[in-house]
Amino acid sequence: MNDLTPMRAELAACYDLAPSLSAAEATRGRWDKAARVIPFAEWATHAPYVLAIERLKAERDAVILGHNYMTPQVFHGVCDVVGDSLQLAIAAQKVSARVIVQGGVHFMAETSKVLNPDKLVLMPDMEAGCSLASSITAEGVAEMRRRYPGAPVVAYVNTSAEVKAAADICCTSANAAAIVRKLDADTVIMLPDKYLAQNVARQVPEKRIVWWDGACIVHEQFTAADLRDFRQFHPGVRIIAHPECPPDVVAEADYTGSTSGIIDYVGREQPASALLVTECSMASNIADAHPAVDFVGPCTMCPYMKMITLEKILWSLHAMTTPVEVPAHLAEGARTAVRRMIDLSR
Ligand code: 13P
Ligand code: SF4
Repeated sequence: MNDLTPMRAELAACYDLAPSLSAAEATRGRWDKAARVIPFAEWATHAPYVLAIERLKAERDAVILGHNYMTPQVFHGVCDVVGDSLQLAIAAQKVSARVIVQGGVHFMAETSKVLNPDKLVLMPDMEAGCSLASSITAEGVAEMRRRYPGAPVVAYVNTSAEVKAAADICCTSANAAAIVRKLDADTVIMLPDKYLAQNVARQVPEKRIVWWDGACIVHEQFTAADLRDFRQFHPGVRIIAHPECPPDVVAEADYTGSTSGIIDYVGREQPASALLVTECSMASNIADAHPAVDFVGPCTMCPYMKMITLEKILWSLHAMTTPVEVPAHLAEGARTAVRRMIDLSR
């Protein structure tokens, strides 16, 4: 979405979006969950959007699915279901509302659409992509099949519907090792994330894992040397990483897991201080639920996830835009690959 001016003009004409302490009071229950990271005065700038979005959700029969990397005002302000990629895919199967607004990136909206072909799935910003998803096409899958004949293809959910349709089964960071273990094959192709594949290869040494050369632009930035330095200056810090990080980074971590795995770990362990080696909003979103934990470290943001703002969600519900479409011939194959994953991870 390049020029936001026309959208802003129409929203301003239709809704009262000026900062408002009374709107903040009316939505205090939602602010309570983010009070550690959003001052109440700032919440007064978000609250008018929250109220307008709530009203439109009811009028349009819509739900908002929000990934753990949404900003705290989106995550706590307007999402009805929040979670990691696997949890959102499962939730998408169970949605009864007519409309789904995807608080996340494009591949997540495609997954929601292939699991709900009769529903209207809206993306607040179609430019919200993913470096992993854009690193491979169906031709790349075919190339890997030619290179490793007979090996099953496990596509990370961070792929387009076209790539999922060309794969045998999907995986997420929450179930990747379990899915690979369950496949009846000695060699397994994992794509497109080379680091997730290399981390799974360490967990499943009995199989030969081969991978595509993709990486996440957020998680590839972390280095093992940085983590060692960080530990030196923060003795006792618990380092918690996402498996999209390079293997030497994962080796420095005290725990590695999907975004929901990270949330569970923090809840269970209650470390005095924690460095989440993942996207920045994760720590903000769970800070209030864990007041005893000091979340430390740099803030590394996913530029795609950050494109999903309250303003664009409001616009999405106001203008009922932008519908996500997946051609039927691709939807069928992608649905099979996602459903196989959901069935195998039960
Ligand atoms: P999770 O499935 O762990 O939520 O990860 C999705 C993602 O895009 C991480 O970068
Ligand atoms: Fe893709 Fe990385 Fe952003 Fe996740 S954090 S959506 S993997 S670019």
